[in-house]
Amino acid sequence: MTVIAVMNQKGGSTKTTTCTGLGRALSLDGYNVALVDSDPQGSLLDWAAAHDDQPMQVYVIDRPALEREIPKLKEEIVIIDGTAKAADLALKTIKVADLILIPVQPSPLDVWATSDMVNMIKDHQDDQIAAGEPPVKVAFVVSRVIGNTKLSKKISETLTGYGFPVFKTRMVQRQDHPNSQTSGRTALDTRPGGLAAHELRALKNEVLAFLAL
Ligand SMILES: Nc1ncnc2c1ncn2[C@@H]1O[C@H](COP(=O)(O)OP(=O)(O)OP(=O)(O)O)[C@@H](O)[C@H]1O
Ligand SMILES: [Mg+2]
Repeated sequence: MTVIAVMNQKGGSTKTTTCTGLGRALSLDGYNVALVDSDPQGSLLDWAAAHDDQPMQVYVIDRPALEREIPKLKEEIVIIDGTAKAADLALKTIKVADLILIPVQPSPLDVWATSDMVNMIKDHQDDQIAAGEPPVKVAFVVSRVIGNTKLSKKISETLTGYGFPVFKTRMVQRQDHPNSQTSGRTALDTRPGGLAAHELRALKNEVLAFLAL
């Protein structure tokens, strides 16, 4: 089992959209995917409930229970929708992940807001290395990009300065994402030939390559 955690303490940073879109792209590739809402009041479950015949399993596991419950899942790839609430509990999610994806909007305020979480992840990596374990993989995904602005290039450079790679794939601001969520789907289902769907497949390919799957 491979566990991907999508995390950012900042609300509205596109965690849930990244989880659903990435999960669906992987499931369309034939992977058996589970999505996990780590916030009992989170929106992943609302999204899933809007579609009767949801192709992915969706579970709710509150963060204190993640370490106990995640190993019980049978799916090949588990994607955890991290929550912005209660930063002190973020370590519970970090601990169960093989890969942490951090979606960040291209604004300096959003970039600076990730620094506490970045430090928490680095401390965990240090603990893993000290224990002789491979450190968790981490990457940033720049999300809700509007135009190919100088600012978003600058943001990528600043993020690289945090010491984690920034994925080449950028998730552009596209209406296909919220439009598809209305019916509990993703852009891959509602407009598979569109650019939003194309970017989700590119993100999936980059994730698979990064994980060497
Ligand atoms: N690439 C995109 N283009 C346009 N809208 C987007 C895109 N990605 C996400 N959104 C929209 O932005 C809003 C915030 O996204 P989302 O709910 O995924 O963020 P989140 O990090 O899960 O938020 P929260 O911290 O509240 O859980 C949603 O309305 C979503 O539909
Ligand atoms: Mg969310």
